[in-house]
Amino acid sequence: MLPLLSPIPLRSCPRAFAGFMDLNPEFMKWLFLNAKRRLQRIAANPGYAAKAVWREFTWADERFLAQITGERASRIRQFIDEPAHTPEFLSHVSDCEKALRTTSFESADVYAKKVLIQYAIVRALTPDTIVETGVANGVSSAHMLLALHKNRLGILHSIEIGDSTYLPSGREPGWIVPDWLRGRWKFHKGDARKILPQLTRELAPLDLFAHDSLHTYEHMKFEFEQAFPFLRAGGILIADDALWNDAFWDFANTKLAPKAQILHGVGVLRKER
Ligand SMILES: C[S@@+](CC[C@H](N)C(=O)[O-])C[C@H]1O[C@@H](n2cnc3c(N)ncnc32)[C@H](O)[C@@H]1O
Repeated sequence: MLPLLSPIPLRSCPRAFAGFMDLNPEFMKWLFLNAKRRLQRIAANPGYAAKAVWREFTWADERFLAQITGERASRIRQFIDEPAHTPEFLSHVSDCEKALRTTSFESADVYAKKVLIQYAIVRALTPDTIVETGVANGVSSAHMLLALHKNRLGILHSIEIGDSTYLPSGREPGWIVPDWLRGRWKFHKGDARKILPQLTRELAPLDLFAHDSLHTYEHMKFEFEQAFPFLRAGGILIADDALWNDAFWDFANTKLAPKAQILHGVGVLRKER
């Protein structure tokens, strides 16, 4: 169906068509997990959904991630498919997702492409040191830790203040992270405002910084300004929910970062030097 709807001739984008055809059955299964919630989102925002389909079709995300990590786009695509091809991870996440569905709050989509994008960045960049803020249930942490496990390299430092409103009752932050991935994880409980300045200085140089804590303009800007000076040249800054305010673009503009984009709501910026 999709190729028929495409406004550009397929001849002019064989790679894009190959990308669509590369969606193997396992990945298609992954895409259709949480389908009901996705369909509700599409109905609420058809313009955004159409853009997302178009980006999928043209491999726009994969091509950008290839540019900033130095990997091939086809390899990025393989990385994006990888969690769906890791049966013990997939079955664990699927069990956790059932527990999340029993709660009344709107939790992170455990199968969202934005999470797979962060996974692919970690696979492609092979970082030694990652700092993330905002763990909640641990969806992004679990994916980044799976990527480190596959890389056989690196430590993830996660800062979380411990707000229980994001969690099913009786659960601790990061409860989704399976035990077999916790060896590469250092959890820092507390406010990023207090912990981040010292931690970034101690761990420098960082390869990757991922913000997903408090999404106010001031707090996002604060975290970017704290982490960025300690990122190595070629390191990457990720900001989840970057469309909530202008903090990501304002910051990217002050750094004159030409390699910055927002993919599925996630701001991704490469530090040039
Ligand atoms: C959007 S959720 C994180 C979702 C998580 N990355 C995931 O993929 O499941 C935001 C989290 O940030 C935490 N948080 C909010 N303000 C914070 C702060 N100042 N320092 C550290 N964590 C904070 C909240 O407690 C919450 O767990």
